[in-house]
Amino acid sequence: MIKIFIVLKNVSKIYGEERTTIKALDMVDLEIEKGKIITVMGPSGSGKSTLLNIIGAMDKPTSGEVLVNDIEIGGLPERKLSNYRKTQIGFIFQNFYLLPNLNVIENILTPLVPYRIKEKDRKKAQEILEIVGLGDRANTRVSKLSGGESQRVAIARALINDPKLILADEPTGNLDTETGKSIVETLIKLAESGTTLIIVTHDPRVVSLVAKHPLGKSIWIKDGQLSDQATYDLDCWDD
Ligand SMILES: Nc1ncnc2c1ncn2[C@@H]1O[C@H](COP(=O)(O)OP(=O)(O)OP(=O)(O)O)[C@@H](O)[C@H]1O
Ligand SMILES: [Mg+2]
Repeated sequence: MIKIFIVLKNVSKIYGEERTTIKALDMVDLEIEKGKIITVMGPSGSGKSTLLNIIGAMDKPTSGEVLVNDIEIGGLPERKLSNYRKTQIGFIFQNFYLLPNLNVIENILTPLVPYRIKEKDRKKAQEILEIVGLGDRANTRVSKLSGGESQRVAIARALINDPKLILADEPTGNLDTETGKSIVETLIKLAESGTTLIIVTHDPRVVSLVAKHPLGKSIWIKDGQLSDQATYDLDCWDD
């Protein structure tokens, strides 16, 4: 049986006030099944990051409901939301947000910093580093890494808490074609082992790679509204 993990019902997000309001999300309905790989594509400013932030409980909708495992998270206290983020979600940000003066392993361990870091955590960080192909860079300072290597560290950091859901905001945005492809392949492998994956992307090649996968699904967003089909010419971004 297919299990629904996340449901958005009539979700809107409005920024600003009165005359200058922006509808970043406009009555969005969405169901995310466990284990799926979803790409979200749409023009700049269409609401993609807002959508990820709301799904990851980094931001609250202006109206509508967000259900995670059938629980409406809008009503939860901050303590529970923070627990949800910590235990269920792995974020991969477009700009990495790595700490340049720490080494690779220390960066991967940052989500665990509120807790005492144990030897087994370091071992796990090292194992994850092997998965993303950076096994020999554990002690390198992050400021010395290339864009692709930094993105891999950001992925490794998102995996340290065994997330059920990975939210990736343009994970290939700053990478060359080859590196971008291998990053997406790494993410797809994670989904194959049961993690649900949402990838925001500007790259039609990422959408096409995911669409060919049996777990893949593509959604499009424009002016804060979702669609199952591309409502515009994909080629216009292909530069
Ligand atoms: N904190 C904020 N305050 C005011 N407006 C905001 C805020 N965050 C986003 N917006 C506006 O909401 C709309 C959607 O923004 P969002 O960041 O979700 O777009 P996006 O699809 O991720 O764009 P991009 O591809 O450029 O990253 C935009 O018009 C943006 O200017
Ligand atoms: Mg964005």
